[in-house]
Amino acid sequence: MKAQTLAIIGGSGLYEMGWLEDIEEVSVATPYGLPSDAILRGRVRDGEATVLFIPRHGRGHRFSPSTINYRANICALKMLGATHVLSVSAVGSLREEIAPGSLVIVDQFVDLTKRRTSTFFDEGIVAHVAFADPTCPILADAVQQAAQSSSVQVHKGGTYVCIEGPQFSSRAESQIYRGWGAHVIGMTNMPEAKLAREAELPYVTLALVTDYDCWSADKEAVSMEAVVEVLNRTVGHAREIARALAHTLPDVSTSPAQHALKRAIITTAPATGPDAR
Ligand code: ADE
Repeated sequence: MKAQTLAIIGGSGLYEMGWLEDIEEVSVATPYGLPSDAILRGRVRDGEATVLFIPRHGRGHRFSPSTINYRANICALKMLGATHVLSVSAVGSLREEIAPGSLVIVDQFVDLTKRRTSTFFDEGIVAHVAFADPTCPILADAVQQAAQSSSVQVHKGGTYVCIEGPQFSSRAESQIYRGWGAHVIGMTNMPEAKLAREAELPYVTLALVTDYDCWSADKEAVSMEAVVEVLNRTVGHAREIARALAHTLPDVSTSPAQHALKRAIITTAPATGPDAR
């Protein structure tokens, strides 16, 4: 099995990386511009994997969900040798049984974003990757295993609606998303998951449920204060799960994501020579 590198995309609470050694900060420039911040790189203590960590919003939370350079983030992780991507993301719940404080291993997405570049293939080379199953089932199983000793409730599977934000949803919107059968709502996993697929990186989301979205009249409107309070309580669990995952990274050589571009690129090589136009 080739050397494995777990890339973690997440928020500031994941910075405490006492479980890594030889930690360094790597600044990467990509053809798509700069990623959200320098990337932390370290080796798992008593293990073999390398871990990369990028704070999605940048240190000090400088980028809104709409202004994150998702392409640069994914490209930088790929350039640094990432083989797996764990996306740790705050979400609101669209279901009574998915309570704030619990976690969801997301397996489907609905993309409602409006002003984000969502492909690497918009100029010169055209490719249409399959996205029916947006997350890696092998990695999702490994995250579930890694979460087994965690004291929080972990829901396996769930559909994530990604809205543009930065405003939270209206009650009417929230009820519509529920009607669609979605489970959680957030603002950051699109186009991240699509770009990871185009970069042939197995990707899975560990969603931290911070609030009930406003679908019910007896639920309070979402407030940032409540979101941050629950997030601070739950992020330690995500950190422990990430650590366990780094010790038990599956071989994803059979992950469909690894071959996403096979037969997806439809641009043909331009003709060369004196007759070419
Ligand atoms: N992130 C955390 N809670 C959210 C919510 N209710 N809607 C959208 N994004 C969120």
